[in-house]
Amino acid sequence: METKIWDFNNQNNINDANIKEITEIYNQGGLIALPTETVYGLGADARNDEAIKKIYEAKGRPSDNPLIVHIYDMKQMQYFTTKLTEDIKILMKHFWPGPISFILPLKQGYLCDRVSGGLDSIAVRMPSHPVGRAILEKVHIPIAAPSANLSGRPSPTTFEHVFNDLDGRIDGIIKAEQSEEGLESTVLDCTQYPYRIARPGSVTRQMIEGILPGCIEEAVLDTEKPIAPGMKYKHYSPDTPLTIVQHLTRQPSIEKDWSQVAFILPKDYETFVPKQAKFIPLCNNENDIKGANHNLYQILHELDKNDDIQRAYIYGFDINDQTTAIMNRIMKAASHIIVEGEDL
Ligand code: TXA
Ligand code: MG
Repeated sequence: METKIWDFNNQNNINDANIKEITEIYNQGGLIALPTETVYGLGADARNDEAIKKIYEAKGRPSDNPLIVHIYDMKQMQYFTTKLTEDIKILMKHFWPGPISFILPLKQGYLCDRVSGGLDSIAVRMPSHPVGRAILEKVHIPIAAPSANLSGRPSPTTFEHVFNDLDGRIDGIIKAEQSEEGLESTVLDCTQYPYRIARPGSVTRQMIEGILPGCIEEAVLDTEKPIAPGMKYKHYSPDTPLTIVQHLTRQPSIEKDWSQVAFILPKDYETFVPKQAKFIPLCNNENDIKGANHNLYQILHELDKNDDIQRAYIYGFDINDQTTAIMNRIMKAASHIIVEGEDL
């Protein structure tokens, strides 16, 4: 299959002819990847069962893992969820458009069954990326979109990431700027009260509780029964073996061979990187979580492209409200392997 590319970095290309073409492809059940502020999504018409089936095939994704439906405005909600509570509306008003998805009770009959993976709930998000938002407004279709990567690969934050994984497997890719946030959205399960964070993201527990105090259940980490089906799969792993290093306070032993080893650390840790090793800046300093979120997947993608890197160490942040999301992704990418700086 030939994958068509629309370069929407060039504003002139966001024109009627291109929008019409994109709308027709979606209407005919085609797959087009589109930018969002979190990561690029692989979009299809959420009402079309065949189209959604193609998403699972193109990604190699298990079909019990439900998708997020992306909307442009609140009017669309009435079709696929039962009555929204005032509390949920308050949260949506505060955080949308933005990097948070809400799991809500599913109203049957409008969306296709496959999009919710057979569950009686549905995840919905209103993204803020100007290009993604323009597409959603103009095509006027509820777009189901998982991250636009092959299953098990790091999520895509640039056009090139999508292209490398999915060229030839999907109908098209809308090219735009790198995703600003860089981590997938927070997923908040609102099918019961108190709500639960099914996947941490840049909208944090404290930010949500700041709006509605006490609305989120205490964290229970039950790995046997993940709330978001997607959390049970191996995710975000680069092929290059990755280890988390924590409490790095000095240069690692000079006795060891550090050639072909990368250190992914905040810039102010550069002095601890052994001379032969490669330094990859993760963010400005250990408090620059926004920078680390933005850069993480880009770095994981680069690791595998660089044949001079055989293994890598990545900075382990102390876990707090702001670092929960990035440490969730880093832990998975590193298969939960952690070393202490003094043991290097
Ligand atoms: O930022 C994002 O959320 C990106 C962009 C494209 O919007 N999308 C994304 O989709 O990350 P995906 O499919 O890679 O991850 C969706 C997550 C999965 O962990 C899935 O299991 C969970 O949301 N999920 C979706 N619907 C659900 C539901 N009804 N109940 C529980 N979990 C759900
Ligand atoms: Mg994903």
